[in-house]
Amino acid sequence: MKKKIDLLITNIGQLITCNNPGEPLRGAEMGQIEAFENTAVAIHDGIIESVGTSHWLPDVYDPEQVVDAGGNAVIPGFVDPHTHTIFGGDRAHEFEMRISGATYMEIMAAGGGIVSTMKHTRESSEGELFASAKARLDEMLALGSTTVEIKTGYGLDTDTELKMLRVIEQLDLAHPCDIVPTFLGAHTLPPEFKDNGDGYVDLVVNEMIPAVMDWYQASHFAKNKTPLFIDVFCEDHAFDVPQTERILKAGLAAGMLPKIHVDQFNEFGGLEMALELGAVSVDHLDVTSEQGIQAIADSKSVAVPLPAVTFNLGIDQYANARAMLDGGTAVALATDLNPGSAPCYSMPMTMAIACRFQKMLPAEALHASTINAAYAIGLGHKVGSIQVGKQADLLILKQPDYRHLCYFFGQNPVGIVIKDGQEVLSTKAQRV
Ligand code: NIG
Ligand code: FE
Repeated sequence: MKKKIDLLITNIGQLITCNNPGEPLRGAEMGQIEAFENTAVAIHDGIIESVGTSHWLPDVYDPEQVVDAGGNAVIPGFVDPHTHTIFGGDRAHEFEMRISGATYMEIMAAGGGIVSTMKHTRESSEGELFASAKARLDEMLALGSTTVEIKTGYGLDTDTELKMLRVIEQLDLAHPCDIVPTFLGAHTLPPEFKDNGDGYVDLVVNEMIPAVMDWYQASHFAKNKTPLFIDVFCEDHAFDVPQTERILKAGLAAGMLPKIHVDQFNEFGGLEMALELGAVSVDHLDVTSEQGIQAIADSKSVAVPLPAVTFNLGIDQYANARAMLDGGTAVALATDLNPGSAPCYSMPMTMAIACRFQKMLPAEALHASTINAAYAIGLGHKVGSIQVGKQADLLILKQPDYRHLCYFFGQNPVGIVIKDGQEVLSTKAQRV
């Protein structure tokens, strides 16, 4: 008797599993791809039931639905581990200012940048923020992102930060993408604390963190055991190393897991501090020195370069991902979707930039965007690879070779998105 299952994906020309030993892939491991030909994947109850040959699995299973991959490549759904998907307004005028010569930091120092988006976000209703972020998630899902981390950080007061967190939870409930929440109350100083950085840090530590923990404990994220992260932008016009340390330690003490925006424009020592605190990921790293790169390699943290930012800002100092990989670091990629430094929804585009400007090979970029990205948000045990027992989040590409993800760029390489075992999006349906 054949076993009844929900879904069988057959005729997979190239299956990339992103198998891993229960921890992020490091250095040389990231370049080693396992590609299986003529395979099939059996899925039941949203979970991967079996991975085998196209000849064998149809003899074993009686599927409710069959999806023919048409000989194309199948890979895990992308995990985007660093985004600012919820925001009001846009910053197209700053895009023009930068083209005309102003830098990101000059615009920020003059009261634009993050504070400009804060104003629009404070003015937006919860419903407006939900609607615009949901439309963005639709685009991200179509481009293959099945799990997305979303940060707060455009409220910069307790009420608006909590409003953003409520939107994060509503999105997770309403959208097929899985969402992971990060509290980024310390993104920059709001105008009311412009000359009182320590006063704002007091507010984050004494008022926001307890309020955010109350929200989290009552949210379904706590019930599902999805972690809550805390993040700080450690940079000029944002937070210095002692302030960042104080905030991350307070978050840790309350039960949040630390992350950091660090070494984007200046290297102040925030990286070493965050590594000592056990940061799950350290993000940006554009100006990180050789010693800093070595320190990440010696730690358990995942390095998350954000090449779409460097590309979008039109500057040439990309994080040295090649040195990180050669030194044995676990590297992940993310879009950093936000209205200022990275108006980019696309993991494939991010991978294409990483290959060209950071000299990552397609295999490395793919592992960085799936299994390692999952570890960068504490979900490596659940998503990011096509392994028996894992959540059935898979992409059927329009091409037979995974390298085409990075080789062609600017178009959407994703044909069919399977999320939790359901075909949620298809731009190339080939059912039998
Ligand atoms: O990751 N660098 C700090 N934060 C964001 C940018 C946010 C914004 O410009 O609105 C980043 O690049
Ligand atoms: Fe960011």
